[in-house]
Parts: sequence; C-alpha cells; structure tokens
Amino acid sequence: MLRSLSLGTLISGFDCGMGHSNGENPPPGLVCKFVGLVLGVLMIAVPVSSSRPDFQALKVAENGRRVCRVTRFGATGNGRVYDTIPIQSCIDHCAEQGGGVVHIPPGTYLTGTIHLRSNITLWVEEGATIMGSTRQEDFAPESARWYTILAEGADNVELTGGGIVTGQGLNFVVEFKEEKNIMVSWNVTGDCLGDECRPRLVGFINCKNVHIWNVRLQEPAYWCLHLVNSDTISIHNVSIHGDFNSPNTDGIDIESSNNTLITHCHIDTGDDAICPKTADGPLCNLTVTHSWIRTKSCAVKLGSRTNHDLRNLHFEHLVIVDSHRGLGIQLRDEGNVDNVTYANIQMSTRYYHPSWWGLAEPIYVTACPRTPKTVVGSIQNIHYINITTTSENGIFLSSLGGRNLKGMKFRNVNVTLERTTNYSGGHHDYRPGCEGMVPHRMSATFLENVDDLRMQGVIVRWKTARVWDWGLPFDFAAGTTVRGMHLQDYESSHLD
Ligand SMILES: *[C@@H]1O[C@H](CO)[C@@H](O)[C@H](O)[C@H]1NC(C)=O
Ligand SMILES: *[C@@H]1O[C@H](CO)[C@@H](O)[C@H](O)[C@H]1NC(C)=O
Ligand SMILES: *[C@@H]1O[C@H](CO)[C@@H](O)[C@H](O)[C@H]1NC(C)=O
Ligand SMILES: *[C@@H]1O[C@H](CO)[C@@H](O)[C@H](O)[C@H]1NC(C)=O
Ligand SMILES: *[C@@H]1O[C@H](CO)[C@@H](O)[C@H](O)[C@H]1NC(C)=O
Ligand SMILES: *[C@@H]1O[C@H](CO)[C@@H](O)[C@H](O)[C@H]1NC(C)=O
Ligand SMILES: *[C@@H]1O[C@H](CO)[C@@H](O)[C@H](O)[C@H]1NC(C)=O
Ligand SMILES: *[C@@H]1O[C@H](CO)[C@@H](O)[C@H](O)[C@H]1NC(C)=O
Ligand SMILES: *[C@@H]1O[C@H](CO)[C@@H](O)[C@H](O)[C@H]1NC(C)=O
Repeated sequence: MLRSLSLGTLISGFDCGMGHSNGENPPPGLVCKFVGLVLGVLMIAVPVSSSRPDFQALKVAENGRRVCRVTRFGATGNGRVYDTIPIQSCIDHCAEQGGGVVHIPPGTYLTGTIHLRSNITLWVEEGATIMGSTRQEDFAPESARWYTILAEGADNVELTGGGIVTGQGLNFVVEFKEEKNIMVSWNVTGDCLGDECRPRLVGFINCKNVHIWNVRLQEPAYWCLHLVNSDTISIHNVSIHGDFNSPNTDGIDIESSNNTLITHCHIDTGDDAICPKTADGPLCNLTVTHSWIRTKSCAVKLGSRTNHDLRNLHFEHLVIVDSHRGLGIQLRDEGNVDNVTYANIQMSTRYYHPSWWGLAEPIYVTACPRTPKTVVGSIQNIHYINITTTSENGIFLSSLGGRNLKGMKFRNVNVTLERTTNYSGGHHDYRPGCEGMVPHRMSATFLENVDDLRMQGVIVRWKTARVWDWGLPFDFAAGTTVRGMHLQDYESSHLD
C-alpha cells in the first residue's frame, strides 16, 4: 500500500519520485521538478541538490517572468528603517501587472505585515532577512491577521529564495525562565486574551497553490507557519527555528486544508512541530516525509481543535529527537480521525518541565470530550509501522466519554524504555482538560477503552528496570473495557 503512494498525485504540476523507497536508508533525495507551477510555463526547477544554486533558479525565473525589485521602490534593507511600504508597493505593482517574482536582495528588511497576492513569488534571496516588527501598531487591529507575511485569498503564491524570515521572538519574552519563558501579551484591545496574544510569522488563509521552499523561518513570537482553509500546498526544504523555551512557538499549523505535502524540513522549536487542526472544515491528504524534528512539546500532533474530520494523513521517514511527545492525537471535539499512517520513524522522547504538556510518550492518543456537552468523534484506522523509539515513558492510548478508539495497528515497533533525565515520572497527562494530570505508575503500553488493537512484532526493552513506578509491559485503566486485542510476536525484555 505504502509503496504505491505517489506523492505526485497530491500536488498537480509537481512531478515527484523517490530516489529509493527503501525505508532503511537515510532520506533519499526527493527528485522533483516544478512544472508550470505559477504561470503554466516552465520556469523554476526546484534545486534537487545543493549543486544547483538558487541564483540560477532565479535566473530561470527572471527569463520567464517579470521580476520586481523592492529596492526600486525605496526599500533600504538597513534593518532600522521600516521597509513595509516599499515592499508592499512592489508586491502590489507586480501583482497588478499580472504577477511575477518580487526580489528581496541581501540586507535586513524591518517590516510590519506584508500582504502577498496571487501569482506572486516572494524571493527572499540568500543573505536577505525579512525582520518582523515587534510593535503592535504595525499589525492589523484584529489578532487573526497578525502575521509578518500574510497571503489571504491568493492563488499561486510562493515564498522562497534561500533567505530568512524572522519574527524577533526573543523580543517578546518578558522574563527568561529555563522551564518556560513568560511572554508579552498584546491583549490590551481585548481582541485576544491571556498569554496567547502575539503575532504569528507567516500565514496563508483561503489560498490555493501555495509553495514554500528553500527558506528559513526563525524566532516566531507565536506560531511560525500557519496554513488555513487552503488547498494544494507544498512545503519543501524549509527550516524552522523557534526558541526552545518560549511557549506556542509551533512549527507548522495546518488548519482545515487539503492536499498538503511537507518534505525535507527541519523543525527545532519550543511548541508542537507539525500540528494539523480542524476548526472550520475538514482536513484531507496531508503527507509529511523526510523531516527532522525537535520540540519541547509534541512532534506530530493532530488536534486538539478537532471540530471536523481529519482524513488520509501519512507520515514517513521522520526523525524525532529529544521531544516531549512523539506521535500524538488529541481529539477533543466532534470531528473524526480516520486513516493515518506513521511509517519508518525513529524517535527519542524525554521529560521536560511539566508546565509543558507531555510526559515523554512516544505514541499518545486520546479521545475525550472538551466540555460535558461535546459528543467527541472517533479515531480509527491508525497504523504504526517500522517505528523505533528510545523513551522515558510508554505508549498511551485512551478514550474517555465513549468507545472512540478503534482499529489501531502496530507492526514492527521497537520501544526501548530508558530514564535519561531526573524528572519524576508516575503520572498520566490528559491535558488539555479531561482529567488533567493523574498520578499513575508507568507502563510500556497503557490502554483505556480501546477496541480492535493489533500488535505484531512489537519489542519492548527495559533499561534501568525495577524503579517503583516502572515495569509493566501492559497496563489497563481501572474500569476499562478492551474489545479485541491481538498480539503476535510481542516481546518484553530487560537490558540490565
Ligand atoms: C485526496 O487525494 C486523492 C488522491 O489524490 C484525491 O482523489 C482526492 O480528491 C483528494 N481529496 C481532496 C479533498 O482534495
Ligand atoms: C494569475 O495568473 C494566471 C495565469 O496567467 C491568470 O489566469 C490569472 O488571472 C492571474 N491572477 C491574477 C489575480 O492576476
Ligand atoms: C492580559 O494578559 C496579562 C498577562 O497574561 C494578564 O495578566 C491580563 O489579565 C490580561 N488582560 C486582559 C484584558 O486579558
Ligand atoms: C535548502 O534551502 C537552503 C536555504 O534555506 C539552501 O541554502 C539549500 O541549498 C537548500 N537545499 C537544497 C538541497 O536545495
Ligand atoms: C477539503 O476537502 C473537503 C472534502 O472534499 C471539502 O469539504 C473542503 O471544503 C475542502 N477544503 C478546502 C480548503 O478546499
Ligand atoms: C488512506 O490515506 C492514504 C494517503 O495517506 C491513501 O493513499 C489511501 O487511499 C487512504 N485509504 C483509504 C481507505 O481512504
Ligand atoms: C526492532 O528490533 C529487531 C531486533 O533487534 C530488529 O530486527 C528490527 O529491525 C527492529 N525494527 C525496527 C523498526 O527498528
Ligand atoms: C518496514 O521495514 C521493512 C524492512 O524492515 C520493509 O521491508 C517494509 O517495506 C517497511 N514497511 C513500510 C511500510 O515501509
Ligand atoms: C540527575 O541527578 C544526579 C544527582 O543529583 C546528577 O548527578 C545528574 O547529573 C542528574 N542528571 C541529569 C540528566 O540531570
């Protein structure tokens, strides 16, 4: 089934084939050609290796398309003067001529929100940095539009060029704390509340044909890359670097969008790294491959905002390092999660300060109603294949308020349980909401109201065994029912 997955079918005009599809090898070069991406003519060949430098691609773009230079519109790139108006004028001029490449040459461009438009490629050249403002007056009044770069209702829009976009997130820290920083809140207008009231970095809302590649996104003050109600998105060779101690510095949040392909990305950030959600509509066809992740929260987190269905998600060839959680699903609302595959993934998970959600679980799945009135949806057909993890805690599968977890399959999954930090274990973490933090012994697999669980070729190895809160291969919640549990070639052994 997985062999026949063709990434090319996800993105039209995007002709991709894997160099190798053998799961054991390091990330093979994804061989891609961009064909007629924006204007229906051959214009940009995605560099498949560093042997094709970006400037050459720009030259190709220049040959085929209009190039608009922000310097001609008075942008200084000196990092002190606001270049918002020159950059926006350049984009608007280019868009009014039918679109083209907006070229940002080397320099540092301090700016309030820049609005991208249809048929625009924002080419932030290597050596160029777009530096988001830290003043609230440089952003729209409504918090839903607080971004440094925002495309709304645009078709064929692209962000690339080898340069950097930064949100200057460290300037939003009020107090630096090892366990978790305290951040600025722009809640004075009452438009957003509490401590999640800061600008995001890059957003695409109601867009079609969105391509983000060869670009570094740094220091978001809040979420980094946000895709909302959009269709046909590719994110390739994007590196995201958020402050490890700052909350809500999510990597990529994908909301209610279809046909998204994320490949060869590097995400190192404080909060959830890849986070699909469904507040306003369903989310279908998300594929993430060949990416590296480190986070103080959950590496791949589905939810918790899940008002609509999430369907056909595929995660493959991921390396997840020193994260608080690995592969998570947090269903809290009426949407359903159906047909998710995680394959060929290597992980290490560990404890961090408990003010961050997570307790080192490599695999964490919960369905639980957000409010007493919520009729929570179901999670089904979830496959874990060829997974290796070294973790301070085990797998956690729980359904509360209904029998909503069914059809989970594990095949060739190796879990080494090893304590590597001094944080105390001995809890289950249901946050957000539900039962919160509950004192509980730890096990390799905790089950609560699970139907039709299949494990084939699961190997659990214990290092540092016989700690008081530690040591059971399986544990069942008191008052749980398990309907259908199938184990084949299951093994648990001590390493010391
Ligand atoms: C999901 O992908 C399949 C296969 O490419 C396609 O047929 C289907 O239309 C896609 N779904 C949506 C909602 O775009
Ligand atoms: C974008 O380019 C396409 C193809 O040239 C054209 O059909 C479309 O009208 C353009 N859209 C805008 C908003 O300029
Ligand atoms: C704004 O946020 C601060 C810090 O989180 C909080 O103390 C204050 O009560 C909030 N004010 C409003 C109006 O939400
Ligand atoms: C990935 O993007 C960076 C710029 O962010 C660029 O320097 C590098 O060459 C790109 N790598 C490949 C393989 O294209
Ligand atoms: C995604 O696909 C679903 C199912 O076909 C559709 O209802 C929804 O409107 C699509 N969303 C977008 C943003 O295109
Ligand atoms: C499950 O999702 C994959 C893509 O991730 C798709 O190829 C496959 O057809 C889907 N299966 C079903 C039964 O929809
Ligand atoms: C799990 O360990 C076994 C025995 O060491 C090995 O044969 C298998 O390839 C490993 N599987 C994974 C997914 O690493
Ligand atoms: C899992 O790994 C085995 C080799 O250990 C490989 O033959 C198989 O194709 C892999 N499965 C998937 C779904 O990639
Ligand atoms: C754990 O605590 C011990 C004793 O205080 C100390 O020696 C060790 O370095 C600590 N380990 C870690 C990973 O912090």
